[in-house]
Amino acid sequence: MAATVGRYDILDKLGEGAMGVVYRARDTTLGRVIALKMLSSDLNNEEDLRKRFDREVEAIGRLSHANIVTVYDKGQAPDGQLYMAMELLEGSDLRDLIEKGGDLSLAERVRIMIEISLGLGYAHSKGVVHRDIKPANILVTRAGPVKILDFGLARLGTGGTITRRGVILGTPDYMSPEQAMGKPVDNRSDIFSAGGVFYEFLTLEKPFKGKTLHSVLYQILSHEPTPILTLNPELPARLAATVYRMMHKAPERRPDSMEIVVKELEDVAAMLQRASNRNAFLRLRPSSGGKSLSEATRARIREHVARGRAHFDGGEYAKALQEMRQALKLDPNCEEAAEVLFRTEQKSQDDSRARVTELLARAAGPADDAKQALAELALLAPDDPRVAELLRDRNQGR
Ligand SMILES: Nc1ncnc2c1ncn2[C@@H]1O[C@H](COP(=O)(O)OP(=O)(O)O)[C@@H](O)[C@H]1O
Ligand SMILES: [Mg+2]
Repeated sequence: MAATVGRYDILDKLGEGAMGVVYRARDTTLGRVIALKMLSSDLNNEEDLRKRFDREVEAIGRLSHANIVTVYDKGQAPDGQLYMAMELLEGSDLRDLIEKGGDLSLAERVRIMIEISLGLGYAHSKGVVHRDIKPANILVTRAGPVKILDFGLARLGTGGTITRRGVILGTPDYMSPEQAMGKPVDNRSDIFSAGGVFYEFLTLEKPFKGKTLHSVLYQILSHEPTPILTLNPELPARLAATVYRMMHKAPERRPDSMEIVVKELEDVAAMLQRASNRNAFLRLRPSSGGKSLSEATRARIREHVARGRAHFDGGEYAKALQEMRQALKLDPNCEEAAEVLFRTEQKSQDDSRARVTELLARAAGPADDAKQALAELALLAPDDPRVAELLRDRNQGR
């Protein structure tokens, strides 16, 4: 292998797909290390593939987004081999992460899914359909951001990944039904594929498990994947519902855009954060060392909770909040009050903002009051970094 291509010194191999090989290389002009993708030499003489390679550079070149790989340069080696220089991404692609069995937390998975959705939604907003969304084309960097790669099939004419020779490049596993039939595809085809990727990321199983190309294509067209919750009952039902809708066979029944998917995933992320803060809070036992509540106090707590529930059921959220706060004042560990408070808060956003400000001030005050304020904050403002910080401090006994 030529160790130098244009102004790039090749260092080692990073990965490989159906179209090309990607190397780590040094840009001798700018002195930085980059990723160099080269069209495979056995494909290099195929005119449609050369065009496709150019189109990839053009597609990525139009896009500037934190969740999409950045392209720097393109060129041709003296022997005619096409290459493109991209930002170097250090990390693992999603294929690797899934194969390793994924010791990622659910919250981490949801974050990755949100980033994929943001990148894809952005590409769609710029008129770019990716058409080859699959785990190998998504890179989770060590530094943090998730990047969508490989726009090699983006904006090709109709026909998806089926080339003129009728050969499918790479895997058909995440293809949409319309793509599998060779029909024209739009954003909604990418939404289907992203749904397939999410499905596998959450269950570690492929949605369509045919053993041959044709059986996979057949399943995509006519087979419903095993329900996500059957494979992984621990997952939040609304997360499964979102993925399920993304994978609807009929494009018009899928979410209209990736923005909608982002919104739904963000709701799930907030819910997980709440649950985790709440657990962090419940680990804090009262500073008074578990002093038991008198029967009279317990009776009052029950009354507040009962009234709060009734208000909640009647849609009187402000009143429900009042009651639950009273209950939590008497017993910051009252799970039932916390639960209703949590659900009520989701209904009355405005009310809660003012409350958060007030509670943050109180959380810095005298011990008992601070504790109670924190109990409520953990539920009311789980995403607020100040709350997370307070909880951390408390757990460290400060
Ligand atoms: N910019 C990059 N930085 C690091 N690794 C990359 C980069 N681009 C691609 N890779 C790795 O190389 C593999 C193949 O790249 P890809 O663009 O998907 O090529 P193909 O079109 O042949 O599928 C990817 O799955 C990924 O693991
Ligand atoms: Mg690829």
